[in-house]
Amino acid sequence: MKIDVLLGLQWGDEGKGKVVDVLTPRYDAVARFQGGPNAGHTLEFEGKKYVLRSIPSGIFQHGQVNIIGNGVVLDPVLFQEEAESLEKSGIALKEILKISKKVHLIMPTHRLLDAANEKAKGGAKIGTTGKGIGPTYTDKISRNGLRLGDVFHDFKTKYTNARNKHIATLKSMGENPEFEELEQRWLKAIEYIKGYDIVDSEYLINSLLREGKSILCEGAQGTLLDVDFGSYPFVTSSNTICAGACSGLGVAPNKIGEVFGIFKAYCTRVGSGPFPTELFDETGKRIRDLGHEYGAVTGRERRCGWIDLVALKYSIMINGVTQLIMMKSDVLDDFDEIKACVAYKINGEETTQFPFSIDENAIEPVYVTLPGWKTDMTRFKSESEFPQAFSDYIKFLEKELETPITIISIGPDREQTIERNK
Ligand code: GDP
Ligand code: IMO
Ligand code: MG
Repeated sequence: MKIDVLLGLQWGDEGKGKVVDVLTPRYDAVARFQGGPNAGHTLEFEGKKYVLRSIPSGIFQHGQVNIIGNGVVLDPVLFQEEAESLEKSGIALKEILKISKKVHLIMPTHRLLDAANEKAKGGAKIGTTGKGIGPTYTDKISRNGLRLGDVFHDFKTKYTNARNKHIATLKSMGENPEFEELEQRWLKAIEYIKGYDIVDSEYLINSLLREGKSILCEGAQGTLLDVDFGSYPFVTSSNTICAGACSGLGVAPNKIGEVFGIFKAYCTRVGSGPFPTELFDETGKRIRDLGHEYGAVTGRERRCGWIDLVALKYSIMINGVTQLIMMKSDVLDDFDEIKACVAYKINGEETTQFPFSIDENAIEPVYVTLPGWKTDMTRFKSESEFPQAFSDYIKFLEKELETPITIISIGPDREQTIERNK
């Protein structure tokens, strides 16, 4: 069996959680492969809404195995909060969730370092989620990290050594760290996590595949936040791209099957960094209001703009996307006109290549204007109901992106999802 990967093609918040939930009944297992509680994946069904941060979005269906893979960074305190609230709503999490021994732990001091790094950057700050993501991955790469499996081997010493290093760094940055209370909570949360199945997830995943079981990998963040290919340095600290599923789960590249690329019918971004098609006018505000574009984790306003096909083509290329999923087209249901950026003009020259340095001030987006469909599509059940202008919009995108759009999401609910005949 092959493993399918679902990931965001923009700057995150494309609607990954919703679609993973919708697709889960077709799979035996769902796995997260990177990121951590910087993610906020929203699911809505039966009048209820859930936001998942570290736990995969496959937990609400029919008892599929859900795996937190080695590429993830986990904050035990936030994990406990999330898990307990899910258990309260009746999810038998301890039975279905498996966590890799190799996930790296976010320590209280990582969060302090995240804040201190941002403060030190001043005006050039990244606008991180403040969850300690960067410092935790930094420790992983510099070989100073603490892994979940370490809780069974001389943990206190390893923890104290790492913590003391962080304290020294914080002090050298002029900070006076105080975190005793946080630390006590964190150590308690470590005990709580020990109640879960902590496994060699690379063996688990590969044996599931050998047994003919199907697996869906759930990306976090988006391709334009990838540490290698995103709008560096305004990115997250992990590989959010398809290749990240290989290293973040221990799956060989030849085991990858379908690659589902998710995008919104427009574009959003939270935090700082370039965003060539950003709208600062009434239209941008209208998209934000209609799309409820406020962060699921931080509540921050999301910056909004038109769809960027230059960036999307780049993301499709980097990930080897085989099927596209378009989200939130309902937000544009009442627009007279819709724009799509098909090229960038840089110093007077047009290019369709995503540049090394995305200086948004130097980039002038070249737009194509399409007629709006002016139809409330939120109750539609099938493709046959699509108004002509919407079908034309889809056709236009498929031609530009050279990839089929197989699923269209027309509202936040699980039911508001239309599959197209390929
Ligand atoms: P994720 O991080 O990629 O899982 O996305 P988020 O959950 O952060 O953000 C997506 C937001 O859009 C959530 O509030 C979803 O409930 C909502 N959403 C998802 N799909 C649709 C859709 O098709 N239409 C509308 N209007 N909202 C959607
Ligand atoms: P999901 O999975 C949108 C952004 C932050 C910041 C940058 C770095 O819900 O799509 P970090 O805390 O990772 O060091 O922040 O990345 N960011 C996200 N933006 N959706 C996310 O996740 C994000 N996770 C991180 O806003 O700009
Ligand atoms: Mg999100």
